[in-house]
Amino acid sequence: MCGIVGYVGNKQAAPVLINGLSKLEYRGYDSAGVAIIEEDILKVSKCKGRLANLEAKLEKAPIKGVVGIGHTRWATHGEPSDLNSHPHSNTKETISVVHNGIIENYIHLREWLTSKGYKFESETDTEVIPHLVDYYYDGNLEAAVMKAVSKMEGSYAIGVVTTYEPGKLVAVRKDSPLVVGVGKGEYFIASDIPAILNYTRDVYFLNDKEFVVMTSEGVKLMSDEGDEIKKDIFHVTWDADAAEKGGYEHFMLKEIHEQPKAIRDTMTSRIALGKDITLDKITITKEQIANIDKIYIVACGTAYHAGVVGKYVIEKLTRIPVEIDIASEFRYRNPIIDKRTLMIVISQSGETADTLAALREAKKSSARVIAITNVVGSSVSREADDVLYTWAGPEIAVASTKAYVTQLIAMYIIALFFAQNKKTVSDEAIEEIKEAMLSLPEKVEEVLTNKEVLQRFASKTYMHKDMFFLGRGLDYAVAMEGSLKLKEISYIHSEAYAAGELKHGPIALIEKGTIVIALATQEELFEKMVSNIKEVKTRGANVLAFAFEGNDTIEKTVDSALYLPRTNEILAPVLSVVPLQLLSYYMSIQKGCDVDKPRNLAKSVTVE
Ligand code: F6R
Repeated sequence: MCGIVGYVGNKQAAPVLINGLSKLEYRGYDSAGVAIIEEDILKVSKCKGRLANLEAKLEKAPIKGVVGIGHTRWATHGEPSDLNSHPHSNTKETISVVHNGIIENYIHLREWLTSKGYKFESETDTEVIPHLVDYYYDGNLEAAVMKAVSKMEGSYAIGVVTTYEPGKLVAVRKDSPLVVGVGKGEYFIASDIPAILNYTRDVYFLNDKEFVVMTSEGVKLMSDEGDEIKKDIFHVTWDADAAEKGGYEHFMLKEIHEQPKAIRDTMTSRIALGKDITLDKITITKEQIANIDKIYIVACGTAYHAGVVGKYVIEKLTRIPVEIDIASEFRYRNPIIDKRTLMIVISQSGETADTLAALREAKKSSARVIAITNVVGSSVSREADDVLYTWAGPEIAVASTKAYVTQLIAMYIIALFFAQNKKTVSDEAIEEIKEAMLSLPEKVEEVLTNKEVLQRFASKTYMHKDMFFLGRGLDYAVAMEGSLKLKEISYIHSEAYAAGELKHGPIALIEKGTIVIALATQEELFEKMVSNIKEVKTRGANVLAFAFEGNDTIEKTVDSALYLPRTNEILAPVLSVVPLQLLSYYMSIQKGCDVDKPRNLAKSVTVE
């Protein structure tokens, strides 16, 4: 997804912009560019490909100046190319714009501007913006941007600079993230905090349709009516180092190893033995909980898979019926929602367009919404009634790992919180689960020491084109996540099946040598799972199984087995997903894939 950085201050803008853009690489991009005001002249440098290409270009033809905007583009309108890269400028090359989002009425605006004599160079929706600003410019940049924005439909975070007012940068957002950094005599805009952390920890979060006007004198926040807005500064406490690789070969491997800490952090101050669960940003009352007659969990991708686990766990512990839905489906299927419906949205980034739209759909029908997100100040966190933050820290690798396990922890916390309020489970049973949760970080550490089986298995099987993941109950939910992880980073086709469903079709695909990953952690379903494994073994499958320590009878049936430390079996997903993440990682390494930035994927999907 596109990344924006902007700078006004006393440093040379180019290195600040490049540094900021490098911290946004995780969002996924296909081209990059900057526009800087050099002695009252607008200089633009942009090109397709990695940021390194832009750096090389800037080295050959440096741009000097202390005001500028930068962009990493993830193509939506028009293929990745030098011409379609941002920034985009007006024909006179006096106004330049970076944009994240989609201008839905750009065709209409393009025709209208063309009829006024404007000429377009690129295929992008963005290019209408500098022309619109040019059309409305009458000596005041913020007034022109406000008028331009009032004509635009869709989502946008934009940054604009002009040679007419060379010391100024104007930015605005709607449905796309944008933060404003406040330094000493220098100011920033960025799509995400890591881009500016090297320079400042003080930020403003902009709400939809709020503008910022910055000069070296300071920043002014404004509404779309032009009124000045006062806001509190948010002081970011996490460390810039948290966003670096910290000695690991890849961010993904680092993040897999950060899971014990992420789990511990997410439980901190919420789960303690002998104490009720308290959730500071959740204000739902006991009476409101008693009134809930249905829960929807809505999310996308990996977050959706955390929701599948949530469905099993919440239903088991609270006896409230839970529907789990993919956000892009939910928003268009006219779901049955009323005041007694609770919606839980899960989103690592808190900016996923479909999830946000589903949240708004539920709110329109008066449902209460709890957001589970990893990003403080993100759109879902601001629009939901209640928020439960996952404290995973910034996740840089595109493939989600530590965010997923913290989303699982959030699901357990919410299920226990409701069960405690509804008294659907005894206090002793709640204490037992809490105790088991508190020992999860050490158990994940233990799983992380057991890599050889996975490395060996990956080195023998990475050339396969297809794989299957099987499980029952919670194991099926984790199988779905394991399968997604493998597809994403190793490009191996895989399918996850509820093991009992196998004989209704997919078993036709099993032949000699087919790779099957089988999860068998659920005690009640263990024997049934072993029977399903036998069904694929007799047809020639090569099976790697995961089971709890002590269930070593499984070895008689499978080709390789990996044992997990025992825990309460509803918590098994937190342990069993870890070897699946590692397996995908080793497969990806063996195949020489770009682990942290898999092809065609973006970290944050802020368009539909
Ligand atoms: C997969 C992955 C994606 C995201 C999905 C939702 O590894 O990261 O499937 O889970 O795009 O993103 P968020 O959680 O930011 O809403």
